[in-house]
Amino acid sequence: MSLKIPSVIGHRGAAAYAPENTLDSIRTAADMGAKWVELDVKLTKDFVPIIFHDDDLDRTTNGHGPVANMNFEDIQDLEAGSWFSESFAGIKIPTLEEAIDVILHHNLGVNLEIKPCPGREKDTAEAMLDLMSQIWDDADRLLISSFSFVSLETALDMAPEWARGVLFESDLPENWKEIAQYLEATTINIDGRTVKRETVEEIIDLEKPILAYTINDVHLARRLRSWGVDSFFTDDLETIHDGLFKAH
Ligand code: G3P
Ligand code: MG
Repeated sequence: MSLKIPSVIGHRGAAAYAPENTLDSIRTAADMGAKWVELDVKLTKDFVPIIFHDDDLDRTTNGHGPVANMNFEDIQDLEAGSWFSESFAGIKIPTLEEAIDVILHHNLGVNLEIKPCPGREKDTAEAMLDLMSQIWDDADRLLISSFSFVSLETALDMAPEWARGVLFESDLPENWKEIAQYLEATTINIDGRTVKRETVEEIIDLEKPILAYTINDVHLARRLRSWGVDSFFTDDLETIHDGLFKAH
C-alpha cells in the first residue's frame, strides 16, 4: 500500500458550498478540484450504510428523531437540501453505495469516517466494510477513520489492508500512542482548531501523517502546516487550497 493523502480534503464533500454529505456536495468538491473527500457513514435501522453526520435527522433534513430508528425506505423519502439553500431543495440522503458511484465517476479518493449511532459501533463498521469489499479495490485512495475505537478495531479485523486513521477530540487521551499502535493506525487525525503545538510535535515523533479537522481559516491552516500538520479537512476547499498554495 502506498496511501496518497492530499493536503486538502473536502469535509463532508464541499460543505461550505452544498448540503453536507450529499451527492451534490461530492460533485461540488470534485468540480472545485478536490482529490479526496471525507464522508460520515452510519446505519439505518435496517442496516443500510448511508452518508450522514448527526445521530438525529432534524438539523439537515425534514425528518425528526434518531437515524437509528428509521428504516431505509423511510429515510429515502426525506429531503436533505433545503435547510442549506432552496436551490438544493429535493435532494436525498445518499447511501454509501451511491456516494461511492459518484466518487468513482469523478476519480476521487475518500476518507470514510465511521460515525456510529450509540451502541452500533461494530455493526456500522461491519456493514460498511462488507459493502466496501464488494465495490472498492484501491487501497491507495481509501482511509477509514473513526472516533470509535471499537469501529476501528472491527476495521482492523475485517480489512487490515485498508488504512485506518484514528480520530481524537481536542484533548488526546493519555494513552493515545498505545491506542494508535494497537489499532495499527496509519494516520493521526486531530482537532486542528484547538490542538497545541507540543501535541503536534509529540505526534510527529510517531512519523505518521497528521490530518487536522476542520480548518476553514487560512491563517490557522498555515500555522498548523508550519508546525508539521500534513493535511487539512475543510468545508471551504477553494479558500484553504488557495491560501496554502497560491503566493501571498
Ligand atoms: O474526520 C474529520 C471530521 O469530520 C471529524 O469531525 O464531527 O466533522 O465528523 P466531524
Ligand atoms: Mg466527519
